[in-house]
Amino acid sequence: MIERQAGPLAVVLGSAAGGGFPQWNCGCRLCRLVRHGDPRVQPATQASVAVTGDGKDWLVVGASPDLRQQLSQTPLLWPRTEGRDSPISGVVLTGGDVDVIAGLLVLRERQPFTLFAPAALLKVLAENDVFNVLDPAVVRRVEIAPLQPISCGGNLTLTLLPMPGKVPLYQERAGATEPEAGPSYAALVQADGRNIVVATACADISPAVLEQLRGADVLFFDGTLFTDDEMIVAGLGGKTATRMGHVPISGPHGALVRLAELPARRILLHINNTNPILLRDSAERRQVEAAGFEVAFDGMEVRL
Ligand code: MLT
Ligand code: MN
Ligand code: ZN
Repeated sequence: MIERQAGPLAVVLGSAAGGGFPQWNCGCRLCRLVRHGDPRVQPATQASVAVTGDGKDWLVVGASPDLRQQLSQTPLLWPRTEGRDSPISGVVLTGGDVDVIAGLLVLRERQPFTLFAPAALLKVLAENDVFNVLDPAVVRRVEIAPLQPISCGGNLTLTLLPMPGKVPLYQERAGATEPEAGPSYAALVQADGRNIVVATACADISPAVLEQLRGADVLFFDGTLFTDDEMIVAGLGGKTATRMGHVPISGPHGALVRLAELPARRILLHINNTNPILLRDSAERRQVEAAGFEVAFDGMEVRL
């Protein structure tokens, strides 16, 4: 009997934005609720998605600083033999923010895998000696050009899709008021003719972005803030979502409106700890779900 081969599988290793949920130094209402175990909220680690096409080799999209904890919580990614082993064959970097790259330091125990990144992000690593803990003789660094599909292990194909974004926080010039364009990408991962897109940072859903996302069967999309001025209103920061490189969920230019026409299964990811969609019974959560969007959570499995 020929068994039908199961399609690709995506596992949300982390669903939160930079800082996680709760964030160590945040006493906002939601962070307090989750610290006290309120059943309406669930703790979340910083954004990362693992994808497999064949159930054997996995590509990790985004190396979150919480990667060690995420791997501990995910039996699918545990070693399969008694010696040193990992099902992770590749890691792709989609941006230079700390919540995308710091997890590389967690993978420093001389385990071979391939690190895929565009030139600008390989430069960030090359300029920071601490990343030399990933011995290039063990961890191969492969430069990928945007929009150029590359085979990346198992039967997965990876393509970086350019997204409107901004330079990582640590590269912003002091006193800058405008966002400076910087390397920011979505990862398109394909297997068995199925398309998964992971886009954790997108500052503007332009017609070009919509075109790139149109072929997705599953779209994990930037759900950082519900309203553009959420951090300002909460008294927790001076920047709008857009200024931080993240289009808001609501509003005329927001994800709910702009992504409404896409046929994909749409899942909001990279959710900031101030975002009311984290609260299961909030009006905002109901609004998102009524619009046909799901809210990612740590451990969420999406089979295609
Ligand atoms: C962001 O997406 O704006 C980042 O998470 C900021 C960071 O944590 O480096
Ligand atoms: Mn981030
Ligand atoms: Zn908070």
